[in-house]
Amino acid sequence: MKKINLLSVALTVCLPFILQPAQAQFAKPDAAISYRQSALTLISSHFGRMQPTIKGATPYDAAAINANIDVLKTLSNLPWAGFIEGSQAGSNAKPEAWSDAAGFKQAQQKFQLAVVKLSEASGTGDLEKLRSAYGDVGASCKACHDSYRVKK
Ligand code: HEC
Repeated sequence: MKKINLLSVALTVCLPFILQPAQAQFAKPDAAISYRQSALTLISSHFGRMQPTIKGATPYDAAAINANIDVLKTLSNLPWAGFIEGSQAGSNAKPEAWSDAAGFKQAQQKFQLAVVKLSEASGTGDLEKLRSAYGDVGASCKACHDSYRVKK
């Protein structure tokens, strides 16, 4: 009985926060833009640092690669909440990220799936498999950038 009461108290206190839309996390469009750009910068860093191993320039340290891919997996979920309505101006996102929301969402999911596959490949400890999965992640970055990011 006591447990149930505690649970309902906890839910009453927490639900309003849980149910808030992603939008509410950002006070202004600028905050959403810097959030997503920061997340993408981190993604780029954690993706790019594996390149020497992929290229065979540094030895394949499976434990380090696995740990890094775990971070990348978490990061791959983050930027998208920052693409709130009305936050295109002043960023390098194309209007298509909003006008073609379904396609943009699909590009996110392709990328996230490619990162999951990268994680599976790294689990095998087989550098050739890692290489191929790494290439697929890179292709998913590029595909999204081609359609939804302003070329510089
Ligand atoms: C689903 C689409 C999508 C995917 C997948 C994606 N990006 Fe991007 N990326 C964007 C968009 C859109 C922007 C522009 C964001 C802005 O300016 O608000 C961007 C911006 C960036 C930036 C610049 C951030 C800044 O500080 O302005 C970097 C770096 C970047 N992406 C790297 C990557 C890498 C590396 C990957 C893959 C490992 C990747 N992105 C995957 C859409 C994507």
